[in-house]
Amino acid sequence: MASISVNDVAAAAGVSVGTVSNVLNRPDKVSPGTVARVRAVISDLGFVRNDAARQLRAGRSRSLGLVVLDVANPFFTDLARGAEARASEEGLSVLLGNTDDNCAREAAYLDLFEEQRVHGVLISPLGDISERLTLLRSRGTPTVLVDRQTEDHSFSSVAVDDVAGGRLAAQHLVDIGRTRIAFVGGPSNIRQVIDRLQGAREAVAEHPLASIDVVHTDALSVLAGRAAGQQILDRAPGERPDAIFAANDLLAIGVLQALNMRGDLLVPRDIALIGYDDIAFAAAAVVPLSSIRQPSALIGYTAVDLLLREAEGGDAFEHEHIVFHPELVVRESTGA
Ligand code: RIB
Repeated sequence: MASISVNDVAAAAGVSVGTVSNVLNRPDKVSPGTVARVRAVISDLGFVRNDAARQLRAGRSRSLGLVVLDVANPFFTDLARGAEARASEEGLSVLLGNTDDNCAREAAYLDLFEEQRVHGVLISPLGDISERLTLLRSRGTPTVLVDRQTEDHSFSSVAVDDVAGGRLAAQHLVDIGRTRIAFVGGPSNIRQVIDRLQGAREAVAEHPLASIDVVHTDALSVLAGRAAGQQILDRAPGERPDAIFAANDLLAIGVLQALNMRGDLLVPRDIALIGYDDIAFAAAAVVPLSSIRQPSALIGYTAVDLLLREAEGGDAFEHEHIVFHPELVVRESTGA
């Protein structure tokens, strides 16, 4: 069956093709009666707008591309909500790509979004992809780094100061009298993990009675946290930490599960526990989790705003690096 065209809709509704286009794109410019009549014809004929043709004419789609590390992590879906909130103010939508920490998938999404002629790309990068992003921008697709600080002034970026966040977490554990801290996190090539551990080490170094050791994980997930928790429980009692700083809340929830499943060590009585991100599951955990809050939705909203300003400003645009400060949220897992 031949597809229904805008001309078919216009003929059936007794209006011009321009009126059909206004009903689709600027209904506020058309009388309510005509809008209702055209929409009824669209529904009756089963017309579907051909956005590919519109994109060819306009040269750009009405979408943004967002590439995140782990779509199963509520931090990134909260960030995506913030990005959508700003994008929708301009009538744009957000296409979400998940790399699962895989470089090949990251590269494939950048190619896809460039082919789709998205308005711009927001990316939480796995490693240093500045060369690829420079090429992207040189061919007309601006990019903003999210959840990543950078000194590179050829891109804008929006992030949280993760070193400060790591300091906040470790300082809180020392302030409540814990001295044997275990940092649970990994993989060790993830910049967020590196910065949080650096901040924690800096805080511990200022307290001669405190120490910190690292329990490496192969992912930033609940299961990886559970495995780390079991590893800590398998230590001899005298070798166990009295506090755990998990690199994100998913890890902390996994550690909490492991401790609860074993049952002989209680949080916070025997081991204080703090996570990072303050996702909704932190407060809802069986022992509400203390955490380091990131303004995840605001990060997404701000990144889209920067992208839109760069798209308007063109080459004259001065790139910005916006760094938010993390916030300590104290709950029962550290003795609130
Ligand atoms: O993707 C790993 C972590 O980095 C997330 O949990 C969030 O903290 C981000 O900053």
